Amino acid sequence: MEGTPIRPQDTDQLLQSILSEARQNNQGKVASYIPALANVDPECTAIAMVTNQGQFFQAGDADTPFSIQSISKIFGLVMAMRRSGNTVWQRVNMEPSGQPFNSIVQLEWEYGIPRNPFINAGAIVIADMLVSQYSTSKLAFIGFLRQLAGTDRLYVDEEVYESELTHGSRNAAMAYLMHSFGNMEADVDQVLEHYFYQCSIPITCKQLARSLCFLANRGVDPFTDESICSRRDAHRVNAILSTSGMYDQSGEFAFSVGLPAKSGVGGAIAAIIPGLGAVVAWSPRLNHFGNSHRGMTMITRLAEEMGLSVF
Ligand code: DON
Repeated sequence: MEGTPIRPQDTDQLLQSILSEARQNNQGKVASYIPALANVDPECTAIAMVTNQGQFFQAGDADTPFSIQSISKIFGLVMAMRRSGNTVWQRVNMEPSGQPFNSIVQLEWEYGIPRNPFINAGAIVIADMLVSQYSTSKLAFIGFLRQLAGTDRLYVDEEVYESELTHGSRNAAMAYLMHSFGNMEADVDQVLEHYFYQCSIPITCKQLARSLCFLANRGVDPFTDESICSRRDAHRVNAILSTSGMYDQSGEFAFSVGLPAKSGVGGAIAAIIPGLGAVVAWSPRLNHFGNSHRGMTMITRLAEEMGLSVF
């Protein structure tokens, strides 16, 4: 583990103060287009920061699991890059979309090649690669996440999974459109099942922050010293997170925070702090971009107070 440790007492106090401030923000609505997600307590609020030095800081409900949702797209992409290398980029682009995460129109104009791997269409192409490359892609996915989170106790939430399957028409429409353009290799239903499965895994802020430290450490997991991806691929993932991880709010996020980050409709925002570690903030009420209101407040204040921007 390299780098300078940060001061524990100051950091605990800062996270506590950030959490109290965020709790004043009652804007937004819990995602309900996947009905099982609407069951979560909207008041839950948490932040956890994990450093490459092995320090853990937290405030609020940092040990309460939430639905990982789109943040799973990071792990799917890294798995596909490990197996397919540069060929990934023949099937998915690396440009911001400027459209909502579940937009379908651009796909038709652009011949079934999604703008980037972090919008739904892009993650479905990545899921297709995983289904084609692994005999049991769902098990491979959860195994990879368990390894990075440092726990064997991560399981899919069957209720959320079923809810996604039965309310997934929009994602299915994108998958079949890509199939019609020849950008889908495996069985489309199997690809959708994999995609919904990876979105339906509950995880805590602490576990997720730890899972992402390799991206802040040139591709090496600082807890195990294992190489998770090449330095070049860690750079590439962080670059696309910076331009596309917060969907059509990515520009504003770069402007006000300045960290590679990814959000999910479960209400979490995960940010990579290159050289230092990772931070995850969670609270379920979302803004109209699909990003957590309180999560935005917490990550913005943390980045300002600690001077974390990479720019
Ligand atoms: O496919 C969906 O719409 C969800 N399972 C994931 C979307 C998501 O998390 C977008 N993030 N803000």
